[in-house]
Amino acid sequence: MHQKGDLYYPNEDFKKIALINNREIYQEAEKDPVKFWEKLAESLSWQKKWEKTFEHNPPYVKWFVGGKINITENIFEKNPQGWEKIKDKNAIIWQPELVDEEQKIFTYKDLFEKVNKFANALKKLGVKKGDRVGIYLPMIPEVIISMLACARIGAVHTVVFSAFSPHALQVRLQDTEAKILITTDGYYRRGGVVGLKQNADEAVDNTSVEKVIVVKRAGNPVNWDEGRDLWFEEISSQESGECPAEEMDSEDLFFILYTSGSTGKPKGIMHTCGGYIVQAKFTGQWIFDLKDDDILWCTSDVGWITGHTYTIYSPLLNTVPTLIFEGAPDWPNPDRWAQIIEDNKVTTFYTAPTAIRMFEKYGLEVIEKYKFESLQLLGSVGEPIDDSAWLWYFKNVGKERCPLVDTWWQTETGGILITSLPGVGPFKPAFSGLPFPGMNFEIFDEEGNICPQGKQGNLVLLPPFNPSLLRGVYKNPEKYLETYWKDYGEKVYFTSDAAYRDENGLIRIIGRVDDVIKMAGHRLSTGELEAAVNLHPDITECAAIGIPDEIRGEVPIVFVIYKGKKGEDEVKKEVVDYIKKEIGPIALPKEVYLVDDLPKTRSGKIMRRILRKLFTGEDLGDLSTLANSEIVSKLKNKVAGNNEK
Ligand code: WTA
Repeated sequence: MHQKGDLYYPNEDFKKIALINNREIYQEAEKDPVKFWEKLAESLSWQKKWEKTFEHNPPYVKWFVGGKINITENIFEKNPQGWEKIKDKNAIIWQPELVDEEQKIFTYKDLFEKVNKFANALKKLGVKKGDRVGIYLPMIPEVIISMLACARIGAVHTVVFSAFSPHALQVRLQDTEAKILITTDGYYRRGGVVGLKQNADEAVDNTSVEKVIVVKRAGNPVNWDEGRDLWFEEISSQESGECPAEEMDSEDLFFILYTSGSTGKPKGIMHTCGGYIVQAKFTGQWIFDLKDDDILWCTSDVGWITGHTYTIYSPLLNTVPTLIFEGAPDWPNPDRWAQIIEDNKVTTFYTAPTAIRMFEKYGLEVIEKYKFESLQLLGSVGEPIDDSAWLWYFKNVGKERCPLVDTWWQTETGGILITSLPGVGPFKPAFSGLPFPGMNFEIFDEEGNICPQGKQGNLVLLPPFNPSLLRGVYKNPEKYLETYWKDYGEKVYFTSDAAYRDENGLIRIIGRVDDVIKMAGHRLSTGELEAAVNLHPDITECAAIGIPDEIRGEVPIVFVIYKGKKGEDEVKKEVVDYIKKEIGPIALPKEVYLVDDLPKTRSGKIMRRILRKLFTGEDLGDLSTLANSEIVSKLKNKVAGNNEK
């Protein structure tokens, strides 16, 4: 890459071989975005061609209306590149956590057979098109096999992150009314075995789950319910390796993925087949410049949207091997991640700023011996990347050679929507860059006027949006309307992010303007945390906020009003336990404060903004609107006292 002012551009040698290396594509897409997507869609294998490319019935959208397509045919036997040509290529490279355990590699042919066998097993259990299947698995090959098997027969998968608690899993299973849950005995994390089956056993009570399918991974002892539990391997191995692909309408439900919003209850984001497939394939291909000899390592767990789209579906649709890693990137040594890149000759590395900041903190000595010669492209996702992390990653991992794409998107958008293309640029530290071709983004002020360049406002997406935009919130149309289409009317999708544009049109994302906390790139809501803490019988009120954190971007802080008789330390522990039980260990707060009161308006609304400012050092502003302004100085002392400790 070379630098001009504060911008970076790809070098000529990268440009020469890049799939997209000039701006013509932007002009073409802008002229007619619907036609642009239509042209891309034409190169996929459709069971039946669509009749209408885009249909807008605000606030609902449809793409490729009337078309029929199954993603597994596009990955496997009807892959547009030709099955004979691709079947012996590597599809999955699985890296177990244990250093001395061997990798497992699956070619496209191996994977296809496993998918078909398991799809047949699901069918035998009565799973039909449209049925929901819960998947509660860590990063092992069976998670991919399970998702693809669902896709093969048209079942709707709902993957629940393996670090979520039994209760969080239960809530999702209840909402989807899944009849099947796929899990594992246990998996390795930081050298220990995490027993997942016991969580699953707890979660399936009071749900419609009839069968629990268990992958044997860690070999740890598990309880067994004879009438309900089945071993994954046993039921798969008896089946045939052929299974016809279900005919899927473009707008048939493909998967549901739960995510946090402003309230305590997670939302089931719905994605459908046609639009998602087109978006997953081409955003991955162009943004990561995916070619025949690439190896992609996207470090996101499949429990998140990044794992769905760029660990699994996009690389497989582009016939590129995807590396999946069971463990933590710094275990057993801080350079484990670097070792994996070198050993596997990874060409494309896609991770989150939290991981980058953690690598940075370990110090350069840790990666001194790595040249990272295989790497051609770096990506960042999930939270804003600051200048210093961007430059560290660019210099020390990408060796100033690799383009660094900072990709902005959401569970709701299904695929990346803002990032400069690697063969075009420009790139600027801390900026996500240009909207993907055909994307109509604006930055609005509160009234819906376009903000001038440099002024911060709300990031919105205008018609025709993008093919993989969410189609709704499962069983909750009001929530869909209220969350995304209320602020500026039913024709403007509000992202809930603040952003601004620089003089080159590059977009910088500031962060969420709603009550979502982005801890280590994971999405948590203050409402969810508060709902968990409020279950404590002696806590009468609480407030959760996210505060800036050097490594994890943001971390939660909880304030509670406690009316019981226990000591402070005990109450704090109980609060943490409630969060652990309701959400999982990923949501643990950095600190819990026991307080006498919370700052409130006269109408009784808790002013979380003021609580947050106690940590950021910002001016507290006018407190006269508070009903109890005297509490603020008390809280200030409490927070300051704690910081001194
Ligand atoms: C944030 C993750 C800054 C943003 C793919 C968004 C980002 C939320 C970036 C969605 C980025 C995602 N720079 N912020 N490159 N990418 N975000 O649903 O606040 O887990 O609204 O999807 O993450 O989080 P989600």
